[in-house]
Amino acid sequence: MTPWRIRDLHDDDLDAVIRLWDDLTAGGASPAFGVSDLIAAVRSDAPAVVAVVGDEVVGAVVASVSGTRAQLMRITLAAGWRRQGIGSAMLIELERRLVSAGVHRITCLLAADNEVGALALEHCGYSVHPGMRLFEKLEPVGPEDVGVLAQLGGRMIRAGLWEQLGGMTKEKELIERRIILPLANPLTAGRLGLVPPQAVILFGPPGTGKTTFAKGVASRLGWPFVELFPSRLGADSPAGLAAALRDAFGLIAELDRVVVFIDEVEEIAGLRRPGVPAHSQGVTNEMLKLIPPFRERDERLLVCATNSVRELDSAFLRHGRFDYVIPVGPPDDEARLAIWERYLSSMPQAGVDVGYVVQESRLFTPADIEFAARRTAQLVFERVVFEQGGDAATTEDVLSGIRQTRRTLTPEIVAQFEQDIASYARL
Ligand SMILES: Nc1ncnc2c1ncn2[C@@H]1O[C@H](COP(=O)(O)OP(=O)(O)OP(=O)(O)O)[C@@H](O)[C@H]1O
Ligand SMILES: [Mg+2]
Repeated sequence: MTPWRIRDLHDDDLDAVIRLWDDLTAGGASPAFGVSDLIAAVRSDAPAVVAVVGDEVVGAVVASVSGTRAQLMRITLAAGWRRQGIGSAMLIELERRLVSAGVHRITCLLAADNEVGALALEHCGYSVHPGMRLFEKLEPVGPEDVGVLAQLGGRMIRAGLWEQLGGMTKEKELIERRIILPLANPLTAGRLGLVPPQAVILFGPPGTGKTTFAKGVASRLGWPFVELFPSRLGADSPAGLAAALRDAFGLIAELDRVVVFIDEVEEIAGLRRPGVPAHSQGVTNEMLKLIPPFRERDERLLVCATNSVRELDSAFLRHGRFDYVIPVGPPDDEARLAIWERYLSSMPQAGVDVGYVVQESRLFTPADIEFAARRTAQLVFERVVFEQGGDAATTEDVLSGIRQTRRTLTPEIVAQFEQDIASYARL
């Protein structure tokens, strides 16, 4: 029989638990919450469990809840009681209470030296973000959201998409810090007076990965992803694009949490200028009206993407509507390497010099690389079929594939993008 058991934390336990929190050998401090925060949380009936051996309290876990989210505030276990599964048992008990209170997402920010907490979280299926001690666990989408999501064509994005985005370290780090971490840790952000972002614009030349970044954010947050297509919205609804947008945002408001993505947003928020037809100005006005109510609720993020940020209405770009305006540039060497490796891995190869291929495909977008890889495979295929030649792709084959591909990007497009960064980026 185990000598320990897990139960709710009672008022009488508080002195013993405070002694544990003060004991730095018992699990390390969380960078997010001090002892006074923890005491205040317990006094206000935050969900909390303790591990006891006889009458002695040897461990405690406290969480705070905000709607369907919970954050583990501190995981503590006395030094003599490690590695017996007590940490995990406390977490499982606490999770049970949180889930029955309607919680879907549980996060925990740990101090780097909190080994006890890290082990328990890992045992209980929490995932770790690389380079961060942010642990989180996702409970699936609530049942009431399923129907609405289906109507909007929304879906969950598989885990790991973010990690598979090759290179683009500048963009990734920026989006991670400004968008993902504040949204994933709203309690810490709120305590520190940081309002998590609710709407952002991604701009950059075609095929640079804007859509992929938006999906990556949804994947990292574990929120459903809803993409609105301006061209399809208008066509679907006789009442026109403005009405269709209003309807879509009405449905979106019913979701607990969501990443909404609008590609080619210049189609619905283009410049209102003389010569632009009145009905399209009406669409821009409608979109401007829809953003404030969208921003009133937590746990939602609007990502708008455009190839031509200079085409956007200035009122649309104003502070207060979009928190950040982020450039997503042409794939750097590392990104092109990752993309080339993905495509080359599906071909038999004879020592392709990938480094050289990466250099020769400067100004290629991911879509261009995909096309060049297809040309390469076609070339080898024809050699095998018509000439009974070798079936392994060589560096020369890949270079031929590259030569047969028209680059989407030109130095002029890149120069224009640099100018747009200077005029419009807000990071
Ligand atoms: N950094 C990356 N690493 C690996 N693959 C990538 C990367 N960026 C983009 N891709 C791939 O390249 C393709 C094009 O990317 P995506 O559609 O996201 O570009 P986009 O900027 O949204 O393009 P558009 O402006 O045309 O809408 C996708 O198949 C995507 O998987
Ligand atoms: Mg796109």
